[in-house]
Amino acid sequence: MSILIPNKTLNDGFQIPVLGLGVFKVENDITCDVVSKAIQSGIRLIDTAQAYNNEEGTGKGILCSSHARKDLFITTKIRNSNQGYDRTIQSVRTSLKLLNLEYIDLILVHWPVPSKNQYVETYRALEQLQKDGLVRSIGVSNFNISHLIMLMDSVKVIPSLNQIEIHPYFTNDEVIAYCKKSGIAVQAWSPLGKGAVLEDETILSLAKECNLTPAQIVLRWHYQNDVLTIPKSTRIERVVENSNIFTFSLNNNQMHAINVLNREFRTGPDPDLFAND
Ligand code: A2P
Repeated sequence: MSILIPNKTLNDGFQIPVLGLGVFKVENDITCDVVSKAIQSGIRLIDTAQAYNNEEGTGKGILCSSHARKDLFITTKIRNSNQGYDRTIQSVRTSLKLLNLEYIDLILVHWPVPSKNQYVETYRALEQLQKDGLVRSIGVSNFNISHLIMLMDSVKVIPSLNQIEIHPYFTNDEVIAYCKKSGIAVQAWSPLGKGAVLEDETILSLAKECNLTPAQIVLRWHYQNDVLTIPKSTRIERVVENSNIFTFSLNNNQMHAINVLNREFRTGPDPDLFAND
């Protein structure tokens, strides 16, 4: 039986599944198989990026799944070397071709790259693409509060979503609180801390107590914090396991036990500094 994943309504009225599949670091030639199997097992959101070099495999996987396009939610992101108004417009046309889609559900500015100072014009291109109907929702990724303030002072459309690093060892509370206050949905990349939190003693003991897996405990914690997730796995049995988190809940004590695990441990780059492509 296929899993049913709830949706959340974004500030522009579109609905996004609260959990999807991330394909960061999945090789293009296996992405097709991973994506089509995930969709067949009930996943509706696939999160790729221009910089992952697997948009083509993602597109093939969507096609192979034979699932109705209207029920899928596809996210991609503008890579750093495509920032700037004209390059962004051009790059989205290329993404659409690679993905073999007529529109993209959600497109994000992948990193703010403050040293380049181009994220405002990049986002303005997304506003235009939204008007043209090539993308539905527009948003950002890896934006700190200072980047969000600067962006929202300069553009018309409030980002629908900010995708940032969040997991029990890096709870990112201030950025989350600012986004929620501003009506911006929050989505976690590396929600499992790239696997690092799955060996944590507290998580392991909660898993035992609840008769669940460590990954399910962590993903349910995100869900109850109103944080969307895109756990990555190339193994279909794990994709299914990670999606089976909607039939139980953690109590306040269990949530608190995870909330206090924060140790400001990033598994990825600092958004203020990252400028690679
Ligand atoms: P794999 O792709 O071999 O399944 P994150 O999404 O936080 O970046 O974490 C991804 C990492 O966690 C990958 O190494 C992935 O490995 C692993 N992973 C994903 N789901 C599970 C799971 N249910 N149990 C154990 N490891 C998992």
